[in-house]
Amino acid sequence: MIKEFLTLKEFFLKYKWHYLGGVFCLLIVDSLQLLVPRLLGLFTDTLLSAQVNIALLRSYLYFIIAIAVGMAVFRYLWRLYIIGASRILEKHLRELLFNHLQSLSPRFFLQHKTGELMAHLTNDITAVRSSLGLSVVLMVDALFLTVMALFFMFSTSDLRLTLLALIPLPFLALGSQKLGVGVFNRFMKVQETFAELTDTSQENIAAMRVVQAFALEGVEKKRFLKSTAKYMHDNFNLYKLWGFYDPLIYICSFLSFIIVLIYGGNLVIKGQISIGDFVAFNGYLALLTWPMLALGWVINITQRGRASMQRINRLLEQRSEIVDHPLPLSLKKEDLQGDIILENISFQYEQNPVLKNISLTIPYGTVTAITGQTGSGKSTLMYLLLRFFEPGQGRILVGDHPISQVPLKLWREKFGYVPQDNFIFSTTIADNIAFARPGATWEEIKKAAKLVALDKEIESFPAGYNTVVGERGVTLSGGQQQRLALARALLTKPEILVLDDALSSVDITTEEHIINNLQSSNIRATVIIISHRLKVLKKAAKILVLEDGCLKEEGTHRELLEQRGLYFLLCQQQLWEEAV
Ligand SMILES: Nc1ncnc2c1ncn2[C@@H]1O[C@H](COP(=O)(O)OP(=O)(O)OP(=O)(O)O)[C@@H](O)[C@H]1O
Ligand SMILES: [Mg+2]
Repeated sequence: MIKEFLTLKEFFLKYKWHYLGGVFCLLIVDSLQLLVPRLLGLFTDTLLSAQVNIALLRSYLYFIIAIAVGMAVFRYLWRLYIIGASRILEKHLRELLFNHLQSLSPRFFLQHKTGELMAHLTNDITAVRSSLGLSVVLMVDALFLTVMALFFMFSTSDLRLTLLALIPLPFLALGSQKLGVGVFNRFMKVQETFAELTDTSQENIAAMRVVQAFALEGVEKKRFLKSTAKYMHDNFNLYKLWGFYDPLIYICSFLSFIIVLIYGGNLVIKGQISIGDFVAFNGYLALLTWPMLALGWVINITQRGRASMQRINRLLEQRSEIVDHPLPLSLKKEDLQGDIILENISFQYEQNPVLKNISLTIPYGTVTAITGQTGSGKSTLMYLLLRFFEPGQGRILVGDHPISQVPLKLWREKFGYVPQDNFIFSTTIADNIAFARPGATWEEIKKAAKLVALDKEIESFPAGYNTVVGERGVTLSGGQQQRLALARALLTKPEILVLDDALSSVDITTEEHIINNLQSSNIRATVIIISHRLKVLKKAAKILVLEDGCLKEEGTHRELLEQRGLYFLLCQQQLWEEAV
């Protein structure tokens, strides 16, 4: 039943006093509560006695008031402890999950959608939190009250009366167990559907402009409605099942009352128990109804928590394929200064090979350009270099060290990477540039902006470098976004600079200007530029041409033109396009 929650063992050990303290206060509240029916019984008997003892009645009354105050104080305390602990747990679990997600490789994120992961971070965690907060309280409460109510019923009243009153209980237990299993399965379904719904919502909001541009609002609305309808349907299914629980409780407790009225009434008539006993017994029987209802909620909430925890555990069990080597080389940054050599690299995302037996050298400290038709595998090659994916075959060496044995952090820190689809955060321009080096000074930030020819534009904004950009940088033009991403990479003073089609939205003159800036500045780095533009390629010390996952040609601009192969063709095509 609780094996799902074993993931949280450490948390429980750390916060055991919160839970134990809370349970202790709760038990005090419950014990005080149990005294009330007994006192009411005594009160009734005193009232009905031949000579009413006012002083005694008064002391019972004071006692009842004292109990009420005590219950209020301890009730506040258990809430503080247990609900407080469950809130800490929520934070702990969310951080655990987030840290874990950060450790996972890009392949994991190819297989899992954003909405699905968001649902885990929100809804599933909430369900787990409820099941380990309020439900703990309810469970302790229910068990303690049940045991004590039974104890008092057995000890203060007629044994046969007690047994008869409890006849419906086993049926209730059986019913609850069956309902619990159903709740688990159906809630699992609800959470899965919720993840789909989050995903549909997220995707639709992000793509609103595209949807509107194609006038597809109607189609998308239908898709969305289908998703919400499914969510409602699954929830409804859950409640169709769960709805049975409360009526079941009331039927059982109603049956018990009928039995007590008939049989207990008889006992009073026969003088075998006092009216006071009869009142107290009814009080305990009524007390039993609450724990039964509470137990129902516990079953409901815990089964939901279990289902959600199982979903979270599945994520936590995922392991990154990209990990540090068990025997990492102990290297310093200087040891990694050298040519980058790819030996017989092959790679595939799924079935189709994307890179086929590629061997090449990227010389240290020079500019290497990579070109080739779209889809030829240029970006993928960079992913392997950055160790986002592991090659299926072959190895990559840097200064004679296989990169798979270089500590991952040390390796990635060498890079300044500007991906093809850059990501701008919705914060200020300055923070975006300083993203990888939060301690950077204003001078450094401005220098980086100047290097990428973005300084004048930023200064023309009313808030300058403090301009807050929209989500994913939407308030900047495509070219501005690209240059911002490049400035960010340059600020880290990378030893290997990778520009994956990083200036494709920038006009050719500006791009040339930036490349010149890079070459004339004192950045001593191995630069890898992926581009389709002749003017950029021409300047590189070495050009690599990919075709359909193979290295087709390599050499300088001049050498490649002389070969009259693919590169020559691509150049001709471009010159022709420019002429047109
Ligand atoms: N996540 C993925 N899953 C499956 N296939 C993929 C994935 N990413 C890329 N591919 C495939 O791998 C091939 C190489 O893609 P890649 O992005 O490396 O090409 P590219 O040379 O960078 O193209 P472009 O010039 O358009 O940027 C393509 O055929 C693409 O469809
Ligand atoms: Mg690409």
